[in-house]
Amino acid sequence: MGKWVAGRVVGLRQWTSDLYSIQVEADIAPFTAGQFNRLALEIDGEMVARPYSFVNGPDNAVHEFCFTVVKDGPLTHELIKLKTGDSLHLAPRAAGFFILGEVPEADTLWMLSTGTAIGPFLSILATSEVWQRFRNIVLVHAVRTVQELIYQDEIKIFLAEQAEQFRFIPFVSREATDFAIKGRVPAAIEDGQLEQRAGLQIRPEDSQVMICGNPAMVSDTQGVLEARGLKKNRRREPGHITTEQYWKE
Ligand SMILES: Cc1cc2nc3c(=O)[nH]c(=O)nc-3n(C[C@H](O)[C@H](O)[C@H](O)COP(=O)(O)OP(=O)(O)OC[C@H]3O[C@@H](n4cnc5c(N)ncnc54)[C@H](O)[C@@H]3O)c2cc1C
Ligand SMILES: NC(=O)c1ccc[n+]([C@@H]2O[C@H](COP(=O)([O-])OP(=O)(O)OC[C@H]3O[C@@H](n4cnc5c(N)ncnc54)[C@H](OP(=O)(O)O)[C@@H]3O)[C@@H](O)[C@H]2O)c1
Repeated sequence: MGKWVAGRVVGLRQWTSDLYSIQVEADIAPFTAGQFNRLALEIDGEMVARPYSFVNGPDNAVHEFCFTVVKDGPLTHELIKLKTGDSLHLAPRAAGFFILGEVPEADTLWMLSTGTAIGPFLSILATSEVWQRFRNIVLVHAVRTVQELIYQDEIKIFLAEQAEQFRFIPFVSREATDFAIKGRVPAAIEDGQLEQRAGLQIRPEDSQVMICGNPAMVSDTQGVLEARGLKKNRRREPGHITTEQYWKE
């Protein structure tokens, strides 16, 4: 296989002025939920590639990625120009260890995300494995504004089908709402608001926490959890906190 596989845009969704999802067909190798591929475009004669997590489950033939337009970001400014039928490049196979296979057993799986990092969790929720392994699953999506609470239709289906097992807790930091927790995830763990809303506790004896997205959120949340006795999950030393950062702090 070559370095790149040709992909074709088969769908686009614009959520806000800066937030998009792109649907792509491409003949790539099977992936594991939680992994990422690389999307690439030739820009000014150079191939520019960046990692993006799959939003779709592994059984879905149409691959979906969501992205936010980053200030001065070379690829995202070109990705937004794509139209249905346009081509782009994907890596032949996915990569990444932000997958359930790396997460030890527990009663409760906490999935904590900011912004576009809800994507890998939606992919994981599309698998039967996650529902078989964990008695309780809590999906947290932390965004700045209500409009950025994307994929509500898909989340409502999980809520309807898995009413006992699944909880969804939105955070909106820069607008007042009557349904979301206002503010940031680490503060809501420290003051007990998140656990109160979930009706569950985050504790080393029965919890696993996956955290994805904004690197400052990932490290601040990890710090708060470590203060409570949870440990970073490592292959050689299993713990409770599995993380993926979308960029460097
Ligand atoms: C494992 C992995 C998975 C990823 N999955 C996704 C995904 O599903 N959706 C997604 O939108 N992005 C994702 N990213 C980030 C993505 O790869 C790009 O970095 C991002 O889309 C910006 O691309 P760019 O070429 O426009 O700018 P870049 O040249 O990549 O970035 C420009 C600057 O912005 C910073 N930056 C990068 N991404 C962000 C961001 N989201 N917010 C704020 N600053 C940022 C970078 O550190 C850099 O300083 C992922 C990154 C990693 C490492
Ligand atoms: N979303 C937009 O309107 C927008 C517009 C233009 C460009 N962008 C670009 O896109 C990038 C990503 O934007 P985004 O909205 O997806 O994500 P973001 O900036 O990562 O914000 C998502 C959520 O994470 C929270 N957060 C930030 N730092 C945190 C920390 N240390 N601990 C806990 N929570 C933290 C934010 O809270 P706070 O609100 O308290 O920071 C917000 O609720 C931005 O950095 C910017 O470059 C975004």
